Amino acid sequence: MSAGVNETAVKACVIGYPVKHSLSPLIHNDWLKTYKINGHYDMRAIKPERLKDGVNILIDEGYAGFNVTIPHKQTIMDLCDELDETAMRIGAVNTVSISGDKRIYGMNTDAYGFIENIKRTQPEFDFKGKNALVLGAGGAARAALYGLKQEGTGRVLITNRTGEKAHKLAADFGCEMLPWQRRFRPDDNIDLIVNTTSLGMEGQPALDFDLSAFSGNTLVNDIVYRPLETGLILAAQARNMPYVTGIGMLLHQARPAFQYWFGVLPDVTKGLEEKIKGLAQ
Ligand code: ATR
Repeated sequence: MSAGVNETAVKACVIGYPVKHSLSPLIHNDWLKTYKINGHYDMRAIKPERLKDGVNILIDEGYAGFNVTIPHKQTIMDLCDELDETAMRIGAVNTVSISGDKRIYGMNTDAYGFIENIKRTQPEFDFKGKNALVLGAGGAARAALYGLKQEGTGRVLITNRTGEKAHKLAADFGCEMLPWQRRFRPDDNIDLIVNTTSLGMEGQPALDFDLSAFSGNTLVNDIVYRPLETGLILAAQARNMPYVTGIGMLLHQARPAFQYWFGVLPDVTKGLEEKIKGLAQ
């Protein structure tokens, strides 16, 4: 047991490799304090080849569950006794709950975080019947596509540098594929643009994307939050287009996870958002 954690505290953590840059402990421990819950949230660096042992240690230590980040989001699925519908459809687990009889239940709250971030930031945006353009075809894109479909978004176009991956996602989620070269020249009216690629992230190449062909009402969302204001977000600001940064997805995906372990659905207050924004810079 970690120093300073009493025996009855409900314990959760985030596992990943590397994991030290994760902001999840700050978010969950802030909520534990706010809601005066006897709980503790820490982080465990677990190498890919040690995943099973690492999870068994958490079970033995009586953890209520954990968040899962890179590189374990897919491989953890094999260790789960049960998966929820969302995790199955997305093909990844970001939240695990461990039952009293040590059964491992895998869930995915990323789609919820993605949708909730947009709903809270742009409450007037109604997904129903709208046209969306999703850039990228990795795990984050799968979560975004699942969320968009759940919300009744009309047409969803997907575009990715590696065409076959976009093709697979388009088939899995009933979307249409747009060639990467045409990413900022779709023929259709687009109401929502979502960047799920790693382009524009700190240390990564910039996202080459021109907003001039889109209407000034198109909502621009970048799920990258380091930096908070990516090139895409700055371009949307310069054109006075509505936008949603990525930090809210991180905050909102954490809410249902916190509820599974600690029994309270926490709020994302302005204060918490500002604190996490500052730390993400
Ligand atoms: P995640 O699970 O976080 O979505 P990922 O699976 O590594 O991460 O996906 C990263 C996405 O960024 C992919 O869509 C990737 O495109 P490819 O499928 O072609 O690799 C995209 N991406 C990364 N670097 C890129 C680059 N230099 N140009 C275009 N797309 C890039």
